[in-house]
Amino acid sequence: MTDDLLARHKAVMPTWMPIYYQEPIELVSGSGCRVTDAAGRTYLDFFGGVLTNMIGYDVPEVREAVERQLRTGVVHSSTLYLIRQQIELAEKIARVSGIEDARVFFTNSGTEANEAALLVATNLRRSNQVLAVRNSYHGRSYAAIGITGHRSWSASSLNPLQVSWLHSGDRLRGVMARLADGDHIDAAVEDLREVLATQTAGDVACLIAEPIQGVGGFVHAPDGLFAALKKVLDEHGILLISDEVQTGWGRTGEHFWGYQAHGVTPDLLTFAKGIGNGFALAGVVGRAEVMEAVPAISFSTFGGNPISTAAGNAVLDYVLDHNLQANAQRVGAILLEGLRAAAAQQPIVAEVRGKGLMLAIEFVRSGTLEPDAAVTTRVFEACKAGGLLVGKGGLYGNVLRMGPPLTLSEEEAREGLAILVDAIASAAA
Ligand SMILES: Cc1ncc(COP(=O)(O)O)c(C=O)c1O
Repeated sequence: MTDDLLARHKAVMPTWMPIYYQEPIELVSGSGCRVTDAAGRTYLDFFGGVLTNMIGYDVPEVREAVERQLRTGVVHSSTLYLIRQQIELAEKIARVSGIEDARVFFTNSGTEANEAALLVATNLRRSNQVLAVRNSYHGRSYAAIGITGHRSWSASSLNPLQVSWLHSGDRLRGVMARLADGDHIDAAVEDLREVLATQTAGDVACLIAEPIQGVGGFVHAPDGLFAALKKVLDEHGILLISDEVQTGWGRTGEHFWGYQAHGVTPDLLTFAKGIGNGFALAGVVGRAEVMEAVPAISFSTFGGNPISTAAGNAVLDYVLDHNLQANAQRVGAILLEGLRAAAAQQPIVAEVRGKGLMLAIEFVRSGTLEPDAAVTTRVFEACKAGGLLVGKGGLYGNVLRMGPPLTLSEEEAREGLAILVDAIASAAA
């Protein structure tokens, strides 16, 4: 049955849209943090459809909110009419964004959210020059690919923007490797000044950065970096865009947004993935005077539609009412500690990193820094065999990524941890 579906998939889908696993699976049902495949096998899900099923599967509060909206008969109206659910969600997001006098524009995906942020920033500054970060991922449109610093995801060199690149926060490889936090920040600031002086015409529109690089394998620079960079950006009037598509809504445990670890507020913030818990919902938030810099009509047919925003309201209420940020911090710490203890015995693990429920393991050839994608795949498959779904990533495909639902319990964390530890041991043997 699954084989048949795989053959049909291959016959009709492009090969550049990859699927996981030697024997791909079809998920046919889900509940809480578990999913069941078409063969009847149940897995604990530590990837949540790429950090998107943020509060788990089959959540009654979300289902009922969506069903209530469906029963009204209005699935779509367009933003030419008032949409109560959309306005309510915008009010809530403006309140939690940390941005003063915020305006919110809804889109269907993170890519579109970043496009909208770039549209605003480049219009406000009347400049198409943008600073981006190596090892980043921001989406799949031309502009989003243009600011994506990751070869595996860069399908085109066509770019409407003039992009200059800053170093990633990689602490293992490259010129910033193994620098102490303060030295790393000093070097990054010096790099920014040099890039501005040597690669740009000065009037740069914005810097776009992920607080923790998602697709890049959860690489992150020291806390405080954004604030140090923003001091320089402010000297030139350059805007800061924080891409919170993976880091938002309390996932990092210590904060509600990734940017808050840096002691600075961005001019624009983009969000997607988790807020819809699977319904297509994304957007950009910014200060009014920044967001108003669009000199023509712009709207999104499906962005912020009644169904997705009904879901979004229910999801955000759930996250706040259940203080899932605190759960991410508590349960994430159990995982991080357990993984670090296991990794200390395993020379194939170069680093266990991340924050809250956004954790990664980087694999290398024993005792070296040479990326080992093959061993990563072995661990990945062994996790599946043990009943655990995780993700992969990193510039060299040698990073296991975990972004379980923020509702993950302590028992589920320990259960997943045991499977991971066994999988690493079996791949190392
Ligand atoms: C940080 C980040 N930004 C943007 C995107 C693009 O979002 P979407 O796939 O919803 O267009 C992603 C998707 O993985 C992402 O991780």
